[in-house]
Amino acid sequence: MRYFIITFGCQMNRSDSERIASVLESAGYKSASKINEADLIVVNMCSVRKPAVDRIYGVLPRLRQGFGGQAKPKTILTGCILKKDRKKFAEKFDYILDIKDVSKWPEILGSNPPLKTDNYLKIEPKYSNNFSAFVPIMTGCNNFCAYCVVPYARGSEISRPAEEIICEVENLIKRGYKEIWLLGQNVNSYNSIPFSQLLKKINDIPGEFWIRFTSSHPKPSTRAKLGAGPVPQLPPGRNGAGDFSWDKLIETMAKCKKVTEYLNLPVQSGDNKILKKMNRPYTIEHYKNLVKKIREKIPNIALSTDIIVGFPGETEKQFENTIKLFKEIKFDMAYIVKYSPRPGTAAAKMEDAVPQKERDRREKVLTEILKKTALENNKKYINEEVKVLVEKQKAPGSWIAKTRTHKNVQFESKENLLGQFVKIKITNALPWGLKGEIL
Ligand code: 5AD
Ligand code: SF4
Repeated sequence: MRYFIITFGCQMNRSDSERIASVLESAGYKSASKINEADLIVVNMCSVRKPAVDRIYGVLPRLRQGFGGQAKPKTILTGCILKKDRKKFAEKFDYILDIKDVSKWPEILGSNPPLKTDNYLKIEPKYSNNFSAFVPIMTGCNNFCAYCVVPYARGSEISRPAEEIICEVENLIKRGYKEIWLLGQNVNSYNSIPFSQLLKKINDIPGEFWIRFTSSHPKPSTRAKLGAGPVPQLPPGRNGAGDFSWDKLIETMAKCKKVTEYLNLPVQSGDNKILKKMNRPYTIEHYKNLVKKIREKIPNIALSTDIIVGFPGETEKQFENTIKLFKEIKFDMAYIVKYSPRPGTAAAKMEDAVPQKERDRREKVLTEILKKTALENNKKYINEEVKVLVEKQKAPGSWIAKTRTHKNVQFESKENLLGQFVKIKITNALPWGLKGEIL
């Protein structure tokens, strides 16, 4: 029996697919190199934006092909699925299964259950890469940002015990892994121990490796520290519980040499009124102050952000505040997306939709600013010698690597350097990356 997994969405979904592969292999399945050679096809979907859901329709025709007249493969849909879509997809897939129950899947499919666990994150994954690994530290989200389906699709936050995470990382380092990505929808709500303590413990593991984490929430550690600006009213029990202190985290990042100088800090909008409507419990003043503190303690840090343009009721003036923020912060990278109404979320009921054309325009305006600021930041690397981790081969003799600051570096070498740390002299800067020569 052969399986094939199609994965959409974020790093968390990619990490989940590694656990699905592991469970299926323990149940006797082997991986198929082509979809039409599979007896079992798993589609791990994302529902964050409507286009992501629409892509499922795109793969449907591929699911029906059997291999050389073989029986039609069995199909499973999993991942972030909305209740409303469950019904819709029920007739298109043989099974719709919850990722949290992945250890029970073999039994459902009629194979022997190899292992059963209540916490699927305990399952040892089949890592898809042999030098960079995703290590989920928590799953779910309690923030209920007005536009977002994650709290509905993934449920509330569950943190993995610290010892379990440390044990997984120790094993990876023993096996020669060079990069560890700690994953969570919201890593700063990690609450088994303070997140900064977890980082420190991982940093103390002997070996030459880099630690990265994503994604963090810029909200203040305690409401009292918010300072200027109105504090959005939040449902009791949400936001605040288990949050780490930003000061402590910044200090830990600065001190721990294996923690890389890169931070994804989603701001979502540059306007306080929109932030409030989004149920994001911070102000732009707080965000800017946070960035200032981070840059003071970690001067060469690269910052990326997530932005939603065209949130319901976003006026031209309010969008201009986002432009202002972009020009001021000079992000290294930004995931700029057009607002997509999602059923069941608070924002779906809001009026004053921004016309699609205007959403397109706003996205383009921000991308242009980002291009300039990213290039400006990248130019500072010219003539610098940097350590990079080689990630992939672009073409024979041409490699793509990443700096500690998560910037792409292209360089030439006849040697196979995949998964290795090398030193590069940067010779050229482009908006989306750097070019250099191996030293
Ligand atoms: N529309 C557009 N973007 C969204 N995101 C989440 N929900 C939506 C939505 N309904 C974006 C946010 C988040 C990222 C993972 O996806 O920017 O940070
Ligand atoms: Fe969605 Fe907000 Fe949670 Fe991020 S913090 S997963 S945007 S609800």
